[in-house]
Amino acid sequence: TVPRLVDSFGRKHEYLRISVTDRCNLRCVYCMPEEGMEFEPSDKILTYDEIADVVRVVAGMGISKIRLTGGEPLVRKELEKLVDMIAHIPGIEDIALTTNGIFLGPRAAKLKEAGLTRVNISLDSLRPDRFKMITRGGNVQKVLDSIDTCLKVGLTPIKLNVLLMKGINDDEIADFISLTKDRDIHVRFIEYMPIGHSDEQWKKLYLPLSTVKEVCTQQEWDYESVGNVKGNGPAQNYRLKGAVGSFGLIHPVSEHFCQSCNRLRLTADGYIKPCLAWTEQFQVRNVIGDDEALRHMFLEAIGTKPEHHEMYKFLQGGQETSHTPTHRRMSQI
Ligand code: GTP
Ligand code: 5AD
Ligand code: SF4
Repeated sequence: TVPRLVDSFGRKHEYLRISVTDRCNLRCVYCMPEEGMEFEPSDKILTYDEIADVVRVVAGMGISKIRLTGGEPLVRKELEKLVDMIAHIPGIEDIALTTNGIFLGPRAAKLKEAGLTRVNISLDSLRPDRFKMITRGGNVQKVLDSIDTCLKVGLTPIKLNVLLMKGINDDEIADFISLTKDRDIHVRFIEYMPIGHSDEQWKKLYLPLSTVKEVCTQQEWDYESVGNVKGNGPAQNYRLKGAVGSFGLIHPVSEHFCQSCNRLRLTADGYIKPCLAWTEQFQVRNVIGDDEALRHMFLEAIGTKPEHHEMYKFLQGGQETSHTPTHRRMSQI
């Protein structure tokens, strides 16, 4: 029988996150440097045929959920084609997209038709000027229009990822939660992780998520704990009494959720990344076409997966780590 993807700590892996490009139409302040990045030349990036081949092989090893990410996945040409290819692979039950939402509206119906099951949209501010500042030039109206279109074509539930940053968007917590009152929208507030940028910026902007509950108390909102919204990401979820949507907290730093980690990553340049936080070394392009070798490489890679990241050490002021930290910026993960 074909071996399953289980790591040395007994964690079963059924979720593969695939970065389809390291390019992005925005340059968010926490993700890319102001001057932009040098992008990978296109011949270094896996082709759709190569990606689909990897998915076919890992689907046989227990992967059932795929997430397409970037950079910004919608800058890659004809992403609908890849969605369609993956949707036809036996064993794949969920194909989600993480996007900044700028290009999503006009393509939402086509993506759904191709087999996309849902979208997570990164949106850190609802205010035009502020959104423009955080994304270095983005137009928030395009994202809001995309959200409306997704609701219309039934590309739901929609999850909004809000990276909480001290002094930048922490006064919008109530506005974001209010979006969930009458819409199938699920807002997740995310703690800022110290990855791929200077410690100084992280120290200045990091905010623990207890702030979100304080805001609910101030608003005198009643909320209750709810289970997982479709998908099985790391959020703890809540719902305002009577609301359609929900809001959740993702706290990778203050309270890591590595014990329940079920995900592997494939980078745009073809590396298997067993953990977000550490460096990686397995390049699939060398073995694509040889299923046995590809399976072997995935097993080897998952065998190197550490028990947890050590980002919480930043909170304690220390930075000694047991593995080699990733050298990639978030946009390259
Ligand atoms: P769902 O399946 O819809 O719940 O998605 P998701 O939460 O897995 O995916 P998404 O791309 O929306 O990621 C949301 C946030 O979760 C990211 O911004 C990260 O902060 C956090 N996150 C995602 N993957 C990892 C991971 O492997 N490790 C850690 N520590 N955090 C992660
Ligand atoms: N910490 C936490 N989340 C981050 N993201 C990008 N950089 C960081 C970081 N340093 C988020 C984006 C996007 C998601 C996939 O990752 O906001 O929603
Ligand atoms: Fe682009 Fe997403 Fe990075 Fe922002 S967070 S620059 S939208 S890849």
